[in-house]
Amino acid sequence: MTESGAVLKVAMPKGRIYKQASKLFRQAGLPIPEDFDDSRKLIVPVPEANMEFIMAKPVDVPTYVEYGVADIGIVGKDVLMEENKDVYELLDLGIAKCRMSVIGLPNWKPVINPRVATKYPSVASQYFRERGQQVEVIKLNGSIELAPLIGLADRIVDMVETGQTLQENGLVEMETLFSVTSRLIANRVSYRLQNAAIQALCDRISQTLAGAVRA
Ligand code: PRP
Repeated sequence: MTESGAVLKVAMPKGRIYKQASKLFRQAGLPIPEDFDDSRKLIVPVPEANMEFIMAKPVDVPTYVEYGVADIGIVGKDVLMEENKDVYELLDLGIAKCRMSVIGLPNWKPVINPRVATKYPSVASQYFRERGQQVEVIKLNGSIELAPLIGLADRIVDMVETGQTLQENGLVEMETLFSVTSRLIANRVSYRLQNAAIQALCDRISQTLAGAVRA
């Protein structure tokens, strides 16, 4: 039980982070049911741990945590940078490693006011603004690599994990903005009211991560 007696609500990102995040939680002794991995269920209570998992679209995790409908959540640093929500960042989980990069066709030539397509308009705008480069940012929601191939944008700002998408589409990385891993975040009020439960969870995960590094 937490100090407030409340169930600890955890926002879990669906999709590519989920597999690694659920593995880490299980290694830390937190009982996420195995049959949950392929389920379409959105709220999964785990009464034996006094927890409840909320399956969220990754980009929405910081919003759930900021509003306190989830006490803690797992989210990529990319989303955290883009969404800029008022949450505590507690732990670098070291999973779902990738990087945020500027990408283009190999024969790209500088133009005045180039168009940059991205899922991360805030991150991209800030990056070019800080470099004094004027660009037009175009927000897309996926398959960003299409943009330079079909002439929508001169460059893109997107995530690179294995590099396979770039390779298969004849694109090259030009600059890296920052490296990305998943983070554990907490609602500010929950962090105070449920501090013992959240701290215990952080400790278990930290020990698991330290063990993985030593192994
Ligand atoms: C992400 C990212 C790249 C790709 C990079 O897209 O936006 O397109 O993965 O991975 P790679 O370097 O291993 O090829 P995602 O699969 O999330 O889908 P999306 O294109 O719909 O955004």
